[in-house]
Amino acid sequence: MSTRIPITSHQGDYDVLIEPGCLRTAAKYIARASQARRVLVVADEQVLAPHAAAVLESLQPDGWEATITTLPAEEPLKRMEAVERIWEAALAGGLDRHSAIIAVGGGLTGDVAGFAAATYLRGIDLVQVPTTLLAMVDASIGGKTGVNLPLPGLSRLGKNLAGAFWPPKLVLVDAETLDTLPLRAFRSGLAECVKHAIISDPDLMCLLEQHAVALREGDRGAIEDILVRSINAKRQIVQEDEREAGCRMLLNLGHTFAHAIEPIKELDLTHGEAVSIGLSAAMTCAERLGLCTADAVNRVRVLLTDLGLPVSIAQHEPAEALCAAMRYDKKVDGDRLRLVLPMQQGACVRDDVAMADIEAAWHSVMPPSSG
Ligand SMILES: NC(=O)c1ccc[n+]([C@@H]2O[C@H](COP(=O)([O-])OP(=O)(O)OC[C@H]3O[C@@H](n4cnc5c(N)ncnc54)[C@H](O)[C@@H]3O)[C@@H](O)[C@H]2O)c1
Repeated sequence: MSTRIPITSHQGDYDVLIEPGCLRTAAKYIARASQARRVLVVADEQVLAPHAAAVLESLQPDGWEATITTLPAEEPLKRMEAVERIWEAALAGGLDRHSAIIAVGGGLTGDVAGFAAATYLRGIDLVQVPTTLLAMVDASIGGKTGVNLPLPGLSRLGKNLAGAFWPPKLVLVDAETLDTLPLRAFRSGLAECVKHAIISDPDLMCLLEQHAVALREGDRGAIEDILVRSINAKRQIVQEDEREAGCRMLLNLGHTFAHAIEPIKELDLTHGEAVSIGLSAAMTCAERLGLCTADAVNRVRVLLTDLGLPVSIAQHEPAEALCAAMRYDKKVDGDRLRLVLPMQQGACVRDDVAMADIEAAWHSVMPPSSG
């Protein structure tokens, strides 16, 4: 089955095409979406074979000029140096202003290759070919690209602090690529689906609950429905507020917490796992502010746990240090932080969350004696 989800953007509309096996016929779809015939495939080195190879193979006939470069999908290497290497590969491949970059990989590859496309010759076409669940339902859609920067005075990176809004010309979602995805990475993607469900789709929440046990083991029986619902949830928000001046901020639900712990090496968290813990902390924070009930907090925690995702951190820094790291992520006013918080239905942006409530939320995801 093939599903096309059109997305409107001020920088040009584009489609998300969901079709099993579509990588093998990628050239056909790319040719419809972009004028480019000289392309650089930027592949996560883990998916060079078979996924990036399938895309390259589809480009062989019909006179495409295609070159390929790879990058390791490691968060500490999501830096400007990776973007520079892509620019250099683009120059070596003879890419001009009418060429395109095709990003094949997870969210990290899409973010870095997307930023390279946004800045090479002041911007060339970008095609996103997400190969992780997380990138399919979230990172490849909406045009956010970027890299991490070192935080002054702290021995860690700040997430996505340099970047650009650069929507793709096309997103090709081939769920068959999930066959090779490790279970841990698959589960990580489910965290962003839960986020979308909390923000705007109660039916998606029920669907995830219904299939939680199977999904936890990597069963993809319900994945088509989950992909379509989750991509639609993101579509609605980015169409309404492409530049994150309003409702798009809701997509940061759980992320301000997540960004504080994701770069801590000792915790060894994937982005999705950090988001899962972040969602859990945000739920507690919301309960403290009277935005949702203890039952709602419990429901989300049970779902995340059933999906095989963490809702607490074993090792950690003191809650105060995590609060300090959060200050780099979002706007701060004195001892108050802007935070997205869940409500009984949906989510809201609060400008006035006191550090004391945030600290308490951190404690709720830490072992009782610590902090
Ligand atoms: N731009 C956005 O709107 C947005 C939204 C959410 C997350 N992100 C970013 O996305 C990144 C996380 O994305 P992710 O979870 O996809 O992680 P990732 O890109 O790091 O991929 C996770 C792991 O899976 C491997 N992999 C990818 N596809 C595979 C496949 N099909 N088979 C086998 N292995 C495969 C990768 O090599 C990596 O080891 C973070 O950097 C995050 O900041 C961006």
